Amino acid sequence: MSGQHPTPQVWSAIQSAARSISRRRFLGSLSIGGAAALLAPAATPTFARASLHTLSLLDANIAAQAGASYTLPPLPYDYAALEPHIDAATMRLHHDRHHATYVTNLNNALANYPDLQGRDIVDLLYHISDVPEAIRTTVRNNGGGHLNHSIFWAIMGPTGGGQPIGALLDAINTAFGDFAAFKAKMTDAATKQFGSGWAWLVLDGAKQLQVISRPNQDAPVMDGLAALVGVDVWEHAYYLKYQNRRADYLAAWWNTINWESVGKRFDQARGA
Ligand SMILES: [Fe+2]
Repeated sequence: MSGQHPTPQVWSAIQSAARSISRRRFLGSLSIGGAAALLAPAATPTFARASLHTLSLLDANIAAQAGASYTLPPLPYDYAALEPHIDAATMRLHHDRHHATYVTNLNNALANYPDLQGRDIVDLLYHISDVPEAIRTTVRNNGGGHLNHSIFWAIMGPTGGGQPIGALLDAINTAFGDFAAFKAKMTDAATKQFGSGWAWLVLDGAKQLQVISRPNQDAPVMDGLAALVGVDVWEHAYYLKYQNRRADYLAAWWNTINWESVGKRFDQARGA
């Protein structure tokens, strides 16, 4: 019976192809009008280009200046601030080495492309298909790594954990039933992400919350989705403390979420 099921690699390729087709269909609808979108099979609603300004505001701390190189944003708290859930050694390695490497590699990739240097990273990734093919994969991986980690640091904090309040909690209850159901769905997505990748809570273009997972450093904005919460399940995020125990890392990670920060991201995204 197992022969009837695609391998994780095949399944990942299928998902990737489906997203690519969905995105091309959406972009095509921009040029030939809304009628095409109405005729297309149902797909995840995406944010339109007109909303990019607000999407960019979500990550204003890393919006580079025109012509400038991308820079590593400082960790907004001490390396030990997330102890005991995420240890200082992991945070130092993760931020100072891994994230820094993504920034360096991204800048190196753009060295011969001055028009792309310093472009808002959200905008750059949203239009990844416009990036020259020679550097597209490098920009996708390292630009995504830069954006994803910048979000990751921002949505955690030393007084994290608990639950969101207000409109975000209402939206979670509406989308998933209750907070516990959301937590279970997000944990499941993160647990089942094969190999390296992320699980995300995103807001789609219809202002609906979704839990998704993405491989490698693929950023939700590449699919027109606003990232609200992301959890890094690359082994470099947890192996120093948790070795191969991803489930233990995920259980601890919930205690680091800064829901006030996430709530601000939600308010900005739903206003887009
Ligand atoms: Fe990471």
